[in-house]
Amino acid sequence: MLPGFVDTHIHFPQMFRVGCYGESLLGWLEKYIFPEEERMSQGNLAAKYSPLFFRELFKGGTTTSMIVSNSDLKTTHFLFEAAKATGARAIIGKASMDRMGPKSILRGTAQDQEETYQLIEKWHGEAERLYYAITPRFSPACSLKTLKMLGQLSQEYPTLRVQTHFAETLEELKLVRESFPNFKDYLATYEEHGLIHSRTVLAHAIFATSHELKRIKTRGAHISHCPTSNMFLGSGLYPLEKFSQQKTVTSIGTDVGAGTSFSIWSSLAAAYQVQRLRGGDITPGQLFHMATLSGAQALGLEDHIGNFNAGKFADVQVLDWSKSPILRKNIEHSQNPLERFFATLFQFERGLISDVFIQGKKVTD
Ligand code: GUN
Ligand code: ZN
Repeated sequence: MLPGFVDTHIHFPQMFRVGCYGESLLGWLEKYIFPEEERMSQGNLAAKYSPLFFRELFKGGTTTSMIVSNSDLKTTHFLFEAAKATGARAIIGKASMDRMGPKSILRGTAQDQEETYQLIEKWHGEAERLYYAITPRFSPACSLKTLKMLGQLSQEYPTLRVQTHFAETLEELKLVRESFPNFKDYLATYEEHGLIHSRTVLAHAIFATSHELKRIKTRGAHISHCPTSNMFLGSGLYPLEKFSQQKTVTSIGTDVGAGTSFSIWSSLAAAYQVQRLRGGDITPGQLFHMATLSGAQALGLEDHIGNFNAGKFADVQVLDWSKSPILRKNIEHSQNPLERFFATLFQFERGLISDVFIQGKKVTD
């Protein structure tokens, strides 16, 4: 039995687009992702597929996730409804974007604000396990007007989380410099609108400068490291020690559909390999913490989840070694629980998880 994992960055409408060949971030968004997000906003597709999305997360041991939805209201309502019905713990935000993509997935500032209010009022705090996250997709997809509106919302509702992308690829940095010539750096495009604080999760942050690192620390924001995505798109290798040295929390995300697995087990295996490739290290204990208590801290849920301390909710994944005879033998050689955990990362398969509980309630069949 282990605490359920916390996935601090995943995109619901990209669930069927894992493994789209041959592009890096901006080309991949344009060629594969924006058309899919448009498709997933049609009819009842989001209602049809969102329960499957949560069940897939459960099969990978994830009990809590921070999710980027589509830019539209309907998809996001369906996603919250499925989270409620399946028993998932989730922080969900409608992707705010008023430029860069095809017109059909853009929302002007006024409509975006109105729809975001509706989602907050209906869902934020529901059942002690559903919360809303203000979600500027990333600065290049937001006008100053939209960033300002989102920053004001963040001040108005001090318990809302903020999620966004930050410093993921070099071509993205160039685009930010061109789009925001009056800002001193990428972080400032969020920071000067009041969007960087202790309830903020920045996905990727690979290319954060030393100035940005310091301000992330001072403001108490958190990182979601998404290694399978970073390798798939060829974005870069996350400089873990820069964040660890200054005690900024690094949590872990799958970032499906750029990420190649729905499972945090596989993301942790990738996180280890990324640090090895850099000539660095990350210990089994650090990896375990990243997927549990660090995730809870990043989402402001450390009083609710992240370990089995008395008084927290029972979010639990149960593994059954007998489902994998080779891993079972491997485990017999292990000297302690962390060795067992570490061996499991590399041979994880969905069938290993026999049961998942959230808030004490069984959510798997
Ligand atoms: N940056 C802006 N949008 C996206 C997205 O959908 N996925 C990833 N990985 N990065 C982004
Ligand atoms: Zn992402």
